[in-house]
Amino acid sequence: MIPQEVIERVRAETDIVGLIGSYVKLKRSGKSFVGLCPFHQEKTPSFNVSPDRQAYYCFGCGAGGNVITFIMNYENLSFPEAVKQLAERLGIRIEYTAEDDPTKPMVDALGLAHKIYTETLWSQDGLDAQRYLVERGLNRETVKGFELGLVPHDTSLLLSRAREAKLATKVLSDAGVLGSSSGRLYPFLAGRIVFPLRTPSGRLVGFSGRVWGDDPNPAKYVNTPETRLFKKGRLLYGLHKARPYLRREGTLLVEGQMDVLRLAQEGFHNVVAPLGTAFTGGQAKVLSRYTDKVILVFDGDEAGRKAAQRALAEVLAADLDVKLLLLPEGEDPDSFLASHSPDEFNSLLEQAQEPMAFVYNLLSPSTTADRKKAAEAMVSLISRVPDRLRRELYLDEAANLIRIDRKVLAELARPAKSGNAKSPKPVTGSPDPEERLFKMMVQSAEFIRLASKHLPLSFFPEGERRELAEKLYHLAETRENFTVGEIIDSLPPQMQSQVSRWSFSDVNYSCDEFARALAHYLYRRRRDALRRELTQAERSGDAERARSILVQLNELDKESNKIYQEI
Ligand code: UTP
Ligand code: MN
Repeated sequence: MIPQEVIERVRAETDIVGLIGSYVKLKRSGKSFVGLCPFHQEKTPSFNVSPDRQAYYCFGCGAGGNVITFIMNYENLSFPEAVKQLAERLGIRIEYTAEDDPTKPMVDALGLAHKIYTETLWSQDGLDAQRYLVERGLNRETVKGFELGLVPHDTSLLLSRAREAKLATKVLSDAGVLGSSSGRLYPFLAGRIVFPLRTPSGRLVGFSGRVWGDDPNPAKYVNTPETRLFKKGRLLYGLHKARPYLRREGTLLVEGQMDVLRLAQEGFHNVVAPLGTAFTGGQAKVLSRYTDKVILVFDGDEAGRKAAQRALAEVLAADLDVKLLLLPEGEDPDSFLASHSPDEFNSLLEQAQEPMAFVYNLLSPSTTADRKKAAEAMVSLISRVPDRLRRELYLDEAANLIRIDRKVLAELARPAKSGNAKSPKPVTGSPDPEERLFKMMVQSAEFIRLASKHLPLSFFPEGERRELAEKLYHLAETRENFTVGEIIDSLPPQMQSQVSRWSFSDVNYSCDEFARALAHYLYRRRRDALRRELTQAERSGDAERARSILVQLNELDKESNKIYQEI
């Protein structure tokens, strides 16, 4: 178990603006900070971070929480993993047991598997695979540096080593090390040369395996299946190794693992690749945390051109500075460098094109219809660029290339309105008086103390809201002041969003206003209860009782002011 005081220190001592600011560009806005929400695609910032509340909330998608939930959601971590990461950041040591971190055994299993794979590659059994890598032009240093391995065919080897390490077979399956087919276990990626896949911080989460030699398997590369640890959408191959180079040198984004290895071997260390398939928006976002300049280097064939265009859109949407280089058809950086010098590759890089020129040259339009197509392609890219100035500059280029009035393009390239980005609603006139009460309570310990005097917990409907009230009452009882960030991670996910939203409904209430809201709530509660009784009495034909309830209802209406006086 992580000690409670560590959790509390993590919440209290993590600087929420500094933390979230290391993932999202934040700008000050009054007492809060705003930026583009990392949890959904948007062009105008609706993501708010408040140091006073120790919480964040996105008015666009409803994502909300505190430092712990931010790390959980952004990095895809469990609660203890997130606390651990934040504690490390603060220099707090946690003695950690498997019980706290449900993924620890999987991490161990992957580590063990990797050890076995590298041993296999460098053993007698790996001689042919080593030869294959040499033939591909990779030297020993590169292969060792990128920690390549060879998956043995033998299941019992993995099982016996796991037994020695006290790892259950099920853990090997959970981690994607073992597959099973009609009840028989086999090493996943058996016989393949594997590339370890790591998170940016270097944590091993899976493998990508390539066929070689006379393996008839038609799938050239296969990755570890998605597991609790391995989520493809945000991983970039090579990022962990390239990280120290990216700020200074910008990033080369290439298509494959072999390209990364070859480029590194030839002295280009600032290289990453998506893991098969298309480059995703999630990957672009991750990349934008480590770099602000990217050159896309893709094959000049039809598939490469398509892939480059798709990647371009994502990179632009992530607000990165981007250029593109299409290699001669049929070449990738790996094959190019097999027959050319690094200098020659460098001169290619110098010819990398700006996005608008790239699109224009790709379509090289001569007819009106083609020019229209090119203009549309450019406009659709430009409208995804979040930065205003950059958008203007691209518009300039596009208008010049197409030779069309800039104003016309500008009109079309208006960033799509994020229609759901609402500004905070004032609480007055909220249809649900209980919600109104909570909105006020999450903003002040004083209000909570007042509420707890007049509203016993049983007043709240059983369930989430009563639980929240209980937490708030407890907080206000034990503490003079608090921030909503102190309780948010202990609420169920849908409540986290709601409570964040409430706390961000930016209105300053006076004590008087709160008392009025409280009185209104009490009045509504009593009235509703009486009405329910009245319906029942009428149904059962108890006219006497119905009459008496009507009298009470009448009284209540007259006395509604008195409730306020009481408070
Ligand atoms: P390519 O087919 O261009 O392969 O796929 P490559 O990178 O040139 O690989 P080598 O040089 O033949 O070894 C580009 C990338 O797409 C992914 C891999 O990440 C590969 O590096 N891919 C390719 C797959 O995930 N699965 C496949 O079957 C093929
Ligand atoms: Mn290749």
